[in-house]
Amino acid sequence: MAPQQLSTDYQEAVTRFSRSGAPEAHHWNSFADKLTYLRADLQSPQTYADLAERIRACAHGWNTVPDVIQYLALPPQLFVPVTEGLGQAGLAADRIRARVVLEKPLGRDLASFCAVNTALRRWFDESQIFRIDHYLGKETVQNILALRFGNPMFEPVWNRQFVDHVAITVAEQDGIGGRGGYYETAGALRDMVQNHLMQLLCLVAMEPPSVYTAEQLRNRKMDVMQAIAPISKDEVARVAVRGQYEGAHSAGEFWRAYRDEPGVAADSLVETYAALRLSIENWRWQGVPFYLRSGKRLAEDCSEIAIRFRRVPHCFFPNCVGLNEQPAELLFQIKPIQGVAMRFAAKVPGYAMVLQTMALRFNYEQVFGRAIPEAYETLLREVFRGDSMLFMRADQVEAAWALLEPVLHVWAEEEPAFPNYAPGSWGPTASDQLLATEGRAWRYPVQRT
Ligand code: BG6
Repeated sequence: MAPQQLSTDYQEAVTRFSRSGAPEAHHWNSFADKLTYLRADLQSPQTYADLAERIRACAHGWNTVPDVIQYLALPPQLFVPVTEGLGQAGLAADRIRARVVLEKPLGRDLASFCAVNTALRRWFDESQIFRIDHYLGKETVQNILALRFGNPMFEPVWNRQFVDHVAITVAEQDGIGGRGGYYETAGALRDMVQNHLMQLLCLVAMEPPSVYTAEQLRNRKMDVMQAIAPISKDEVARVAVRGQYEGAHSAGEFWRAYRDEPGVAADSLVETYAALRLSIENWRWQGVPFYLRSGKRLAEDCSEIAIRFRRVPHCFFPNCVGLNEQPAELLFQIKPIQGVAMRFAAKVPGYAMVLQTMALRFNYEQVFGRAIPEAYETLLREVFRGDSMLFMRADQVEAAWALLEPVLHVWAEEEPAFPNYAPGSWGPTASDQLLATEGRAWRYPVQRT
C-alpha cells in the first residue's frame, strides 16, 4: 500500500471516529508526512532487518533518536517468532526507547503464557513490555483507587468487619458476533475472567501502596493474587459455573444459539458464561467471598462492582419494616452508566417506621459534562510516556493463569450439558445457586440502583 493511500485511510477514520472531529490540515499533514508502510512476511528474519533499516532511515530523516513502539496484535502462534525477529534485528535493545505492546490472547493457559513470556524476556526487559488489559484504562476503573484512597471514610469499612461480600459483574447483551474463530479457542473464563475481572478484583481488594509508582501499585495487586485461595480440582464444581447461550425466537426477534454463530462448531463445548467464587485469605478479607461473573447474550449490558455491606446487628425500632432487607451497598458502575452509587436505608415518609433503600449517585458524564476518554486513548498515551502503571505485569498474568488452571482442566475433562441458558436471561441457574447456597443473591437487574 502506498503511504498516500494509508494516510487517506487514516484521515478518513480519524475524521469519522475522533471525539474532536476532523484534524486541522496543517496538523494532519505534518503527521501524514511521516507515515510509511512495510508489507512483509512475519516468519522471515529479513522482515525485521528491513523494519530496522526503515526505522533507521526515518530517524535519520527526522534527525532524532525516536522511541520505537512495537504494537503486537497477533494470532497467538506468531508472538514467539515475531518477538525473536524483533530481538535479533536489535529492535529491543534500547531499554528506554524500545517498547512492545501486547494485545491478548496472552496464552490460553499457564504453559502457553510462560512460553510467550520467556520469548519476550529473552530480548525485552519487563519495563519495556506493556500488556494491555483495556479495563485498566477505563476512567471508572481508575476511580476505584481514587475513591478508596482519596477519601478517609471508605477505608475504615473496607474489610471483613463491614463487608459481607463483593460481586463483580461484566454482562453483555451481544453474542460473540463475528469472533467465532477466536472465541472457540477462548471462552468466557479466558476472555474475561482471567484478565478483566481479576484486575478489577485486585483493585478492590489491594492494600494502599506507599508511593504511587507502577511497581508499587503492581506489587500490591500481586499481594492480592498471592492471597487468593487456590482452587483444587475437587472444588471446581462447587465454586465455578459455566454456561452457553441457546437460540431463541421471541417477539419477532431471532437470536442465534452460540453453536450456530459463524466459526463455531455445531457441538461446541466452549462457555459463553462463567461465574466464580473466590476467597482472599488475608487479614482484610478472610471470610468475605468475592463472586465474579461474566457472560454474553445476557439480559443487560452492564459492568459493575458491588460492595455489599453486612446487615445491622440489632434493630431497636419497634415494629420496624424493611430493615436489612437490602443491606447498604457501594457500586462502582463501569458500563453503561459510569459512576458510583451508594445505597443505604432511609425512612419512607409516614407514621410507621418503614425503611427502604435509597441511592446517592455520582455520574461522570452528568458531573463533568463531557465525554470521558476511551480506555485505549489513555493506555496508548501511557505507552508513549513509557509508564506501565496501567498495564499487567507478567507475574500477575501468570498468577491468574495458575489460579484458573484447575478450573480449565476440570472443564476440559467433563462434558457440560450445553446449551444451558436462554438469550436475554441472567445465565445458567447454577450461577444463582452459587450464591444461594450461602444465603446470598446477585443483584438483578444490575444497573437499577
Ligand atoms: C474484550 C473481550 O477484552 O472485552 C470481548 O475480548 C468483550 O469479548 C470486551 O466483549 C468487553 O469490553 P467492554 O469495554 O465493552 O466492556
